[in-house]
Amino acid sequence: MNTFYIIGTGPGDPELITVKGLRTMENCATLVAPKAKVNGDSTALGIVKGLMDLDNKKVIEVCFPMHKVENGKGTQEVEAAWREAAQLILDHLKDGDVAFPTLGDPAVYSTGFYVYATLKEMAPDMEIKIIPGITAMSCCSAIGNQPLCLGGEILTVVPATFDDQRLGQILTSCDSVVLMKVHNVMDRLVALLDELDLLDRAVCYEQCGMAGQKVHTNLRAAANSDLHYFSTIIIRK
Ligand SMILES: C[S@@+](CC[C@H](N)C(=O)[O-])C[C@H]1O[C@@H](n2cnc3c(N)ncnc32)[C@H](O)[C@@H]1O
Repeated sequence: MNTFYIIGTGPGDPELITVKGLRTMENCATLVAPKAKVNGDSTALGIVKGLMDLDNKKVIEVCFPMHKVENGKGTQEVEAAWREAAQLILDHLKDGDVAFPTLGDPAVYSTGFYVYATLKEMAPDMEIKIIPGITAMSCCSAIGNQPLCLGGEILTVVPATFDDQRLGQILTSCDSVVLMKVHNVMDRLVALLDELDLLDRAVCYEQCGMAGQKVHTNLRAAANSDLHYFSTIIIRK
């Protein structure tokens, strides 16, 4: 039986993919790449496109709608997309190894692990290997020349879509907080950070390692800009 690989591509800069991730993809017969919109492009595929010859490979893009997933359960549409991807992967494993490139690291808010769980239900004995990637937060901290945590500090990574009470508790009790998926909730976040007197400690990193990279130290201004989905805030007290 051939192997299915879930491969982290890093956050955007093609030089931030691992040697192992790239070599493994080069040896795969098929790439199944995720994208968020039917008519959009796969960001993960865009990262690897210029690094390898795709002419002799089968490349399939699968759309995963961006709906909320809770406790591993998605909407009907989302679960149908997981099953569609899993079936495609099983079909193409007959022709050789298959890779699923995913933005950043597969272990951090990635569709890769939903596909993993769906495949394991459909074919419990199949071999799946994960190849880690550099996370967006690692890239953001490097661009900002700031650590995520040192010594005895507590680092928390959290979707910014949590309610204010839960976010407030986390922001109060942790030394360093990484807020992901911030772009649609900036007004609420700015108000909360202001209330907690943390606005000056927060930096927003937009499209790190990508063509549109920006670092926003003024979060009020960032909230008034058309912030990209690929934006992350680091708050270090
Ligand atoms: C679905 S999660 C993917 C996270 C990814 N697996 C990782 O390891 O970082 C998408 C969120 O990651 C963050 N993100 C991904 N790429 C980014 C980038 N290049 N710059 C800043 N934030 C990014 C944003 O917070 C975005 O809303």
